[in-house]
Amino acid sequence: MKILITGALGQIGSELTAELKKNYGEKNIVTSDVREGQIPEEFLPYEKLDVLDKSRLAEIIKKHDIKVIYHLAAILSAAGEKNHNLCWNVNMTGLHNVLEMARELNLKQIICPSSIAVFGPETPRDNTPQETVILPKTMYGLTKAAGELLCDYYVAKFGIDVRGLRYPGLISYKTLPGGGTTDYAVEIFYEAIRKKSYQCFLSANTTLPMMYMPDAIRGTIELAEAQFLKLENHSDFNFAGVSFSCAELAAEIQKHIPDFKITYQPDFRQKIADSWPRSIDDSTSRKQWGWKVEYDLEKMVRDMILNLRKKLNGYSTIS
Ligand SMILES: NC(=O)c1ccc[n+]([C@@H]2O[C@H](COP(=O)([O-])OP(=O)(O)OC[C@H]3O[C@@H](n4cnc5c(N)ncnc54)[C@H](O)[C@@H]3O)[C@@H](O)[C@H]2O)c1
Repeated sequence: MKILITGALGQIGSELTAELKKNYGEKNIVTSDVREGQIPEEFLPYEKLDVLDKSRLAEIIKKHDIKVIYHLAAILSAAGEKNHNLCWNVNMTGLHNVLEMARELNLKQIICPSSIAVFGPETPRDNTPQETVILPKTMYGLTKAAGELLCDYYVAKFGIDVRGLRYPGLISYKTLPGGGTTDYAVEIFYEAIRKKSYQCFLSANTTLPMMYMPDAIRGTIELAEAQFLKLENHSDFNFAGVSFSCAELAAEIQKHIPDFKITYQPDFRQKIADSWPRSIDDSTSRKQWGWKVEYDLEKMVRDMILNLRKKLNGYSTIS
């Protein structure tokens, strides 16, 4: 069964591509993104695709006999606040195009990420329940909340198998994040290793739900492979990893890089972070499809520093 990934060159796509190829075979995974230029070999076969171009999407689906789409193309929270029109267009029209293709061309499954950005300041911030107040205040959160409803509409009305997780902030060393409010939690590692100092754009005690990429990729594929009939929810699963503040992350990094120093200069992203949960109740995911997180803060930081040191070349040991 052939799979198309949209937005495949991004933070999640670059790691999901490798894992899907491993699981389902190199030739069965077709990647796509709006970006042009030299595409690394690990992404081939690759098709340039702007998800706003529905006829090009149809052409690619037919050309490769695609049956499943992992729809990752999106404009994230901080980037979305800088360009709200682009965020609305890509996140809503792009998703609508994918869902219409699923309906018109009888696709078997659509995986479409949601986000903790669906929540807003009126939502309980600790152990945020599955069913709760959804009043996002960012354009990104608004598109994700509407996107969940749109996906669920296609499940109910057309019987299409659409699934999605509310990802927390994702931490990874392979590809830099693409303009989210939780990007600090990746940048901090690069700066700690390269410069031993980091100026954080959120305040010290800002606590957000986060997850290490290996957990996120495993969870995404586990949800995709779960039995459809066992799922009561579809596009809006709460998905929890580990919650920590900026200061707690810095302290954990200092265990490996003792002379690492952090300063804080909150910018416009602080307001976004303050409207999001501190921790997530993911009992619905655990119950319906068996989700279980593997990486805690300590294990994640150790693995990030080990791999980032290798990647950035020049530091081969870990304390
Ligand atoms: N990374 C996170 O922390 C996080 C958290 C919550 C939810 N998510 C969701 O996961 C999904 C993937 O996120 P990511 O972190 O990989 O994002 P990213 O920004 O790293 O990657 C998104 C990709 O989409 C591409 N893209 C943008 N506009 C496009 C268009 N018009 N047509 C085709 N491609 C286009 C970009 O070139 C980029 O490669 C998104 O739906 C995002 O909202 C991510």
